[in-house]
Amino acid sequence: MKLCVALDLPSIEANIDLAKALNSYDIWLKIGFRSFIRDGKSFIKLLKAINPNFKIFLDLKLYDIPNTMADAAEEIARLGVDMFNIHASAGEIAMCTVMERLQKYETRPLVLAVTALTSFDETGFQKIYGESIDERALQFAKMSFENGLDGVVCSAFESRAIKKATQDSFLTLCPGIRPFGEDAGDQQRVAALDLAFKEGVDFPVIGRPIYKDSDPRQKLQQIMQQIQFIETGRL
Ligand code: C5P
Repeated sequence: MKLCVALDLPSIEANIDLAKALNSYDIWLKIGFRSFIRDGKSFIKLLKAINPNFKIFLDLKLYDIPNTMADAAEEIARLGVDMFNIHASAGEIAMCTVMERLQKYETRPLVLAVTALTSFDETGFQKIYGESIDERALQFAKMSFENGLDGVVCSAFESRAIKKATQDSFLTLCPGIRPFGEDAGDQQRVAALDLAFKEGVDFPVIGRPIYKDSDPRQKLQQIMQQIQFIETGRL
């Protein structure tokens, strides 16, 4: 498992402080709407200046007509990030168009598709998609796999079934992780790290449990230790 830390803080300075605290770990950093809208490309450059080995996931969840998504995907590829995502519900043509457009890049970022947001509960999801989260997430994952994407964003509870229906190497990135039973906030389908590991999650995403803690550095240390314990079977 590779921990992915959400840099969702209210200022660039606070994000940079957190990134500096993470500097010695082999982890991914997630830049989402808040930080990218506020600090843009220069934020990515600043992070790379702190540590060129930081892996960056640009979480902008593209959702538009296929050509617009492919144009945006190309711009993202030029930013030098390592992973980005689109919404699976944008459809197969959008998926194909994005992947085709990225073919010309010798090293392209990994592309994931969002299946069901972890903030949905079953009732809210049914209202929009008319299907259960499990079924729809699985269909979205199969569709993403068949169209050449590298993986999906899902909850830890769907990870195992998705890998079974696709391939073990098909990546699952799972937000809604609460390592020590922290407040779920707006997340509905939250999971602990040991469950994420059992379900084969490749990237557990953690935001608020780290940056809302009174001592984010210490919290991160505890989380990294927990991951090590889980992975070595000591938990
Ligand atoms: O603070 P928390 O740990 O809940 O952060 C989860 C992060 O993952 C947020 O940045 C959120 O935007 C993002 N995310 C999510 N659900 C998805 C995709 C991304 O919660 N399906």
